[in-house]
Amino acid sequence: MNIVTCVAPVNIAVIKYWGKRDEKLILPINDSISASLDTKQLCAKTTVMASCNFKTDRIWLNGREESMDNPRLQNCLQQIKKRAQLSLEMKNWHIHICSVNNFPTAAGLASSAAGYACLASALAKLYNIKGDISDIARSGSGSACRSVYGGFVRWYMGSDPQGTDSIAKEIVPSNYWPEMRILILVVNDSKKKVSSAIGMKNSVETSELLKYRANKCVPERVELMQQAIIDRNFDKFAELTIKDSNQMHAVCLDTYPPCSYLTDVTHSIIDIVHAYNDAVNCLKVAYTNDAGPNTVLYLLEKDVPSVLGIIDYYFPQNDNSNYIRGNAPEIIKPSA
Ligand code: PMV
Repeated sequence: MNIVTCVAPVNIAVIKYWGKRDEKLILPINDSISASLDTKQLCAKTTVMASCNFKTDRIWLNGREESMDNPRLQNCLQQIKKRAQLSLEMKNWHIHICSVNNFPTAAGLASSAAGYACLASALAKLYNIKGDISDIARSGSGSACRSVYGGFVRWYMGSDPQGTDSIAKEIVPSNYWPEMRILILVVNDSKKKVSSAIGMKNSVETSELLKYRANKCVPERVELMQQAIIDRNFDKFAELTIKDSNQMHAVCLDTYPPCSYLTDVTHSIIDIVHAYNDAVNCLKVAYTNDAGPNTVLYLLEKDVPSVLGIIDYYFPQNDNSNYIRGNAPEIIKPSA
């Protein structure tokens, strides 16, 4: 039996991926940029085993057996098999996959990204695949290609209709901006109502704003963001992060029927962040939301105590509202 275990980070986009130009190959309509989080705190851990004694392929997610009959999982396995250096003997072996997340699944915390990046990495190691594997991770879940790398990562949309150039590359490693911190505010850890896959598809089909976003806005914004990261310019980084998150959610509302992922609690957090930045007369905190109500704050280490104080003041831990804080790691460094 051959066995491999890998961990992969959650990534939080600061320039969002929202919309595919090819649903099957998972090719995006714009470039995106994210930070990968410290795997010590938030990660997926996957063990893959191949054996001649296994009768079928099987998968367990967070301890529960799930069906292998999942098109995204099958895409990922097919990509792996295409690139694998398999001995004749191993070609007929079945695999068992066990994956665990230490954070809520499908609650807008990029669980599928970490999961598919981890699966691609583990299978690549098992089958001795060399070189970039971000395209294999992408075939499971688009944003997963960014979780293959640490630090700040850019996913290039590419121009090849077959997607060979739609891959992720590291912009800077995790230790490049050591003062950067990420605060995750878990507003709700239940499964989201509209998956990002469905939401995106509806947006591509119906939103005029998405066309403007992908063609006019993001191409310029992604370059500005990359430069802000390279310059460690927090002010610019924060402005672009906030604007891009708001634009993605504006596209969601421009979608027919609209999909709204943000709750009243999310909107209160957004208002508090703006009020705080206004009060101190500069951008000290940036917020961003994926396809769920949970808010991620980007800030510098020196500002963590005051921001945590404000969060505590508005959302005390002993308050039994639906605002949950403390069941997910709170202060996280971007890391490899
Ligand atoms: O990779 P998916 O299909 O889970 O899409 C995720 C898209 C967002 O999280 C909303 C944005 C992003 O760039 O991560």
